[in-house]
Amino acid sequence: MKKSSQTELIHAPRLAPQYIKTIQPPLYRASTIIFENTSKLFDRHWSDRYDYSYGTHGTPTTYTLADKIAQLENGNYCLLAPSGLSAINLVNSALLQSGDEVWVPDNIYGPGMAHLRYLQQSFGVIVQVYDPLDHHSFQPSTKAKLVWLEAAGSVTLEFPDLINLVKKAKQHQIMTVLDNTWGAGLAFNAFDFSDEHLAVDITVHALTKYPSGGGDILMGSVVTQEHKLHLKLLHMHATQGIAVSGDDCAQIQRSLAHMQLRYQQQSHSAQEILHWLKQQPQFQQVLHPSDALSPGHQYWQQVCQSQQSAGLVSVIFQENYTLESIRRFCDALQLFKLGFSWGGPVSLVMLYDLTEMRSLKSAHLAQGFLVRFCIGLESSEDLIRDIEQALQAL
Ligand SMILES: Cc1ncc(COP(=O)(O)O)c(C=O)c1O
Repeated sequence: MKKSSQTELIHAPRLAPQYIKTIQPPLYRASTIIFENTSKLFDRHWSDRYDYSYGTHGTPTTYTLADKIAQLENGNYCLLAPSGLSAINLVNSALLQSGDEVWVPDNIYGPGMAHLRYLQQSFGVIVQVYDPLDHHSFQPSTKAKLVWLEAAGSVTLEFPDLINLVKKAKQHQIMTVLDNTWGAGLAFNAFDFSDEHLAVDITVHALTKYPSGGGDILMGSVVTQEHKLHLKLLHMHATQGIAVSGDDCAQIQRSLAHMQLRYQQQSHSAQEILHWLKQQPQFQQVLHPSDALSPGHQYWQQVCQSQQSAGLVSVIFQENYTLESIRRFCDALQLFKLGFSWGGPVSLVMLYDLTEMRSLKSAHLAQGFLVRFCIGLESSEDLIRDIEQALQAL
């Protein structure tokens, strides 16, 4: 068939020989995926592990990253979502129906709670709150379907009584889902975290943090071990058109190679900064699960045998400091930048009012304003000097 030069440009683009070996795999960008023939079109099924039928389902680039995240977290199956919050919402949408009860820790990631409140108001899902340090406060009824866990909570950093909470959920045949962003698949194995080989059913991970590592990409994942559960989540994933960009996947795939080194480094710097913060008189509580005085330390010891922690440290200021003075402190920081998130190269600081964040009375937490430090990859000595000079502004 004779073709015009315009058609030639589209249908016969010059392609260099394709087969070379590279450190990183080739990057696929696709909405349309071309079927070889109608048999391939009709033989496809949405539940296939590698369903190459449309960009929303996946490409070799997205499936490669999904497989690596499943491997990182010791699971079998992984679904990718455009943000950590979207991954959280995927689990809630797939597993909760009207009249179901869902349990959340009092220190749950706030926007996740906002989605649950929406499900409560619009669809009659019943949201119940428990104290992460007290498994007795987790009192599931026969309607309970799902319990959320966070180890550690990302602002107040209490490490929950994971073993007893998961045991209780299993006794009541309730699905367990862990926001594993803090542990990142490195601090502990969520699918085998005790001598009795306890495992959660699902992990959610904001890949935006450590796997991205750059503070510039948003993505989330949902990892499972069991195929039937994966299919239930996958069905909702496909129905809602949840998809991620190949470019973003390639960037995260590239960063995964050094994620463990970054995590170790930030864990180490956090220890040094924690040690210094504990000696400063301006704080009534310094929070980090590795510290013996920090709430949930004993549960962290049970589960985190690697002794590693994400690089997050929080402080609660003495009650005599006003909001204005603590704002002056935050504004005076030079290396720590004021912003949400963590896991990137630049250290971040965020200010919270604890009274607005908790619905239960937490005897283990002091009242007042909390500042969270997210330790980046700068020298810990420089970061300490930065906090030291900013404290003068109080
Ligand atoms: C513990 C935790 N889970 C989930 C998320 C949501 O991730 P994303 O920012 O990708 O939506 C965050 C974000 O800060 C988080 O801290």
